[in-house]
Amino acid sequence: MSHGGRGVARHDNFVVFVGRALPGDTVRARVTRVKRSFAEAMAEELLVPGAQNVDPQCDPEGACGSCTWQRLPYELQLTYKEEQVRDAIVRLGGLEQPPMLPIVGMDDPTGYRNKVEYTFATDPETGEVFSGYHRFGSWEEIVAIDECLIADPRGNAAKHIVDAWAKRYDLKVFNRETGTGLLRSLVLRVGHATGEVQVNVVTGSTAKGLPRAAELVDDLEAGVPGIVGVLHTQTDSRAETSFSEEPPTVLWGRDWYEEQMGGKTLKIRSNSFLQTNTRQANKLYDIVLDVAKPRPDDIAYDLYCGLGSITLALAPHVQEVVGVEVVQEAIDCAIENAELNGIENVEWQTGNVRPILKFAKGVWPDPTLIVVDPPRSGLVPKVVMRICEAKPERIIYVSCNPTTFAGNLPQFREFGYEPVSIQPVDQFPFTSHCELVARFEPIPGWEPPTAEELAAREAIKLAAKNRTKQRTNARAAGRRKPKAKGADAAAADDQGA
Ligand SMILES: C[S@@+](CC[C@H](N)C(=O)[O-])C[C@H]1O[C@@H](n2cnc3c(N)ncnc32)[C@H](O)[C@@H]1O
Repeated sequence: MSHGGRGVARHDNFVVFVGRALPGDTVRARVTRVKRSFAEAMAEELLVPGAQNVDPQCDPEGACGSCTWQRLPYELQLTYKEEQVRDAIVRLGGLEQPPMLPIVGMDDPTGYRNKVEYTFATDPETGEVFSGYHRFGSWEEIVAIDECLIADPRGNAAKHIVDAWAKRYDLKVFNRETGTGLLRSLVLRVGHATGEVQVNVVTGSTAKGLPRAAELVDDLEAGVPGIVGVLHTQTDSRAETSFSEEPPTVLWGRDWYEEQMGGKTLKIRSNSFLQTNTRQANKLYDIVLDVAKPRPDDIAYDLYCGLGSITLALAPHVQEVVGVEVVQEAIDCAIENAELNGIENVEWQTGNVRPILKFAKGVWPDPTLIVVDPPRSGLVPKVVMRICEAKPERIIYVSCNPTTFAGNLPQFREFGYEPVSIQPVDQFPFTSHCELVARFEPIPGWEPPTAEELAAREAIKLAAKNRTKQRTNARAAGRRKPKAKGADAAAADDQGA
């Protein structure tokens, strides 16, 4: 099993990463890309399933790109995830004996997603519109989905109603190349604890609004228990996105729904990040509190706080907490959520963590506890440096990508911190993704580097940068071809170049 969740095959000693193949499978695969040291392939036919294979609970063809690990028993999924986290930390993080705790799995790994996004497409045979997920390994092709195994089932009625409405009025699918057509995607959000359902129909821009909106609203109101809002988002972006700078139009109800997470009631709006697996997020936040061991005299920072779920969970246990987040709408929700939960010892800052931390130095109170929960790309080295320079007693790193987490470990070490516990948590059953919570503490006896050591490190970095630049220039020069056959090119031809 590779880190991205593909099967690893070998031809002689040459490695081939095979999509849709799992350990032990015999497959017929088509090679899609060949590099100097490895190749990539996609399994086209499963000839003999591996010994561990179980019958998938949906999508027996393995066509859907959403749950790539459906054929693995859940216990084995957990074993692979734990191994992959450990492997990344050893290989990329340079820790020989990672202080790892056993992975926390789910009791029931189905129906866990509180948010799903279906893409609209046209059936090439019938010409009818439908919604589904991307075909495994394809950017273009959509596989029709009736009921998604990992989606909260309380959103299914809404999906069926929207699909039927689109078919009934023969609405056209948006074409990202030409900007014509209408329907792009359907975003469904369900409050796991509250049962509230929000429906957001995403289209290209329409001067006259969503056609047949009244009929859609009537059907949804009548057929979806718990529905609290029907929204319409418009975007002409060429990227595949449901995000729009403009707030959605409320066709019916309200533009927010309620969820309970980390022991708090949260108001969620359409553009704010929320952990997609509420049941596991509650466990994740419990683990954060457990390993952070917050104290009443703590000055805490929650960096990349989203709409404040961790910030608010920490607040009752510390003197003061500062939440930092780049999305204004998420901070607006966070402010509302603090009020809703009667929490007053919180300060919110909207903006990019990196410059904000620079500004914070010497201006804001010194932190004793810093929690970070960055996006999949992890932390840039400057942020690691600024976090460590603030000298907190402990740093809690919540990561949704063990590979980038592991890549940050040498940087933390460079600035005097190391992990003392790492707890993987399975937030995404049937996929290869894994979350983790790590506690960092200052390395005992660590001294900041001297001015000479810093200068020597800078010189090494600069030399490496120059070498990369030279290589890039050399490669670019090799690729540059004469535009027209001028005198120089003709001369080169003559010399057999
Ligand atoms: C993985 S989410 C974590 C959210 C929150 N801790 C939670 O559990 O719901 C990462 C958050 O970081 C925000 N973000 C991404 N890049 C950022 C940056 N450079 N500065 C501040 N926030 C950022 C995203 O908008 C998102 O809300």
